[in-house]
Amino acid sequence: MAKLTIDGKEIEVADGTRLFDACTLARGEALPHFCYHPDLSVAGVCRLCQVEVEGMPKLTIACNTTVRDGMVVHTKNERVRKAAQQVLEMHLINHPVDCPICDQAGECGLQNQYMEYGLYDSEVEEADKVNKKKAQVIGPQVILDKERCVLCSRCVRFCNEVTGTGELGIYNRGDRAEIGTAPGIELDNNYSLNTVDICPVGALTSRDFRFQKRVWMLKSTESICTGCATGCNVRIDHEAGRIYRLKPRRNAEVNGAWMCDKGRMTYKGVHDEKRLLSPAAGGERLTWADAGQKLAAIAGAGVGLYVGSAHQTLEELWLLRRAAAGAPVSGGLANADRGQADALLLDADRTPNRAGLSLLGVGEDEPAQLAERIRKAQGAVVILGGDPAAEPAVAEALGGRTVVYVGTHRNATAQLATLALPGATWAEKAGIMVNRQGRLQELRQAVARAGDAREDWRILAELPAVRGDAPASLRALRQAAGADLGLDLTNLPASGLAPAGAAAPKTGGDA
Ligand code: SF4
Ligand code: SF4
Ligand code: FES
Repeated sequence: MAKLTIDGKEIEVADGTRLFDACTLARGEALPHFCYHPDLSVAGVCRLCQVEVEGMPKLTIACNTTVRDGMVVHTKNERVRKAAQQVLEMHLINHPVDCPICDQAGECGLQNQYMEYGLYDSEVEEADKVNKKKAQVIGPQVILDKERCVLCSRCVRFCNEVTGTGELGIYNRGDRAEIGTAPGIELDNNYSLNTVDICPVGALTSRDFRFQKRVWMLKSTESICTGCATGCNVRIDHEAGRIYRLKPRRNAEVNGAWMCDKGRMTYKGVHDEKRLLSPAAGGERLTWADAGQKLAAIAGAGVGLYVGSAHQTLEELWLLRRAAAGAPVSGGLANADRGQADALLLDADRTPNRAGLSLLGVGEDEPAQLAERIRKAQGAVVILGGDPAAEPAVAEALGGRTVVYVGTHRNATAQLATLALPGATWAEKAGIMVNRQGRLQELRQAVARAGDAREDWRILAELPAVRGDAPASLRALRQAAGADLGLDLTNLPASGLAPAGAAAPKTGGDA
């Protein structure tokens, strides 16, 4: 361990700790910086993190310095502040200062640090600034403004060190130096939007989010991505019931500081025009009162098969199993929602809760098996989520049967359902998903439910086997499910409830 004094405060940190991280610990906030990122190699190019170490004649950059026992460090004195101001002035020489039309405004390192360390009158005439290419599309997801770039090289290091795709580089020298892709190369990898997250200024921005919303108007809800079995931890940024973007949230045990571009786009399904917005029977819109009577009549006449889906939460699937009261239950189609995996985070299993089905002991079926089970079912078929009728064999078996479907979109299963009931999407409800490591993580509600959609568990609670003893709240449902499974589902740790022997994380770090 090394004991050091930073701004008069004594701290003890592990040998080998970067002075930058020790300063963050002592100060309660990071030093000014552009190029340092804890998940990337140290570049030491922005020179913003300079500190005074007693005994050293010159200021030193904290990101490229390792702590030593007995170090006495100053991060706030006049000499250090002056250095930060001069470095900022250098970074701003050619910066266009077009904050009013920059998506990064409000969460920009340059703006924030200017307010803290700058506040000087610029001596550079606008006409003397070097102009560079603006609004250049460099890939399917990312747009580049070369003038705003501070050449921190974070994006270059990300593409070299994390994805290994190496699309970006710094070209030319001096005040002509600029970020860019090689001729004929696009920034086109499945993690390209992480470069937007780590770009400390508005040089790299998201084409999807571009000019959609000023960031200070957004509210954030911490949740998890449901795009695949990895369950990356995310922040849902939304305003007035509309989601504008997903950002990765650090969980060193699951996704480190990253998420994939496919996962970021899953929010679009929440506002999709194909949403099922009201109960319907035979194409006719129903009120919930009428739909409730119809559901009671169908269920009262007998249900022969309950079909769940790996898209539903643990609580919903547990309640479905309870509602079945001994009747056959299928977890849905085993072959559904599969894709190509990559070596970083994206899993071939594009459902968020297959491991939850396993935890409940509910098996999935191949299409032919499920079709056979439907044909043999004595009574109606109740389907919770997924779209099993997208498989022709299953659609054929369901034809002419009494089918109740609880789902979010007007898909093949909703089309042939006798009674279609609108459930809530992943962003409109809370619940627990079990990821590929077996880790239990919480989905949280970010936006109000669209149309007449209801939480799926409340719909299931209307089924006869549950109705008399229906849980009064999601918490009560969690308690009951947790007691049954021998898990405390009401008190999950922030990083998720790790199962014994959980797989080791692939990435680590912080944004
Ligand atoms: S584009 Fe952004 S992340 Fe890349 S070097 Fe420039 S400022 Fe840094
Ligand atoms: S890897 Fe999977 S869970 Fe993570 S962001 Fe992508 S789709 Fe979502
Ligand atoms: S953060 Fe240390 S030199 Fe850039």
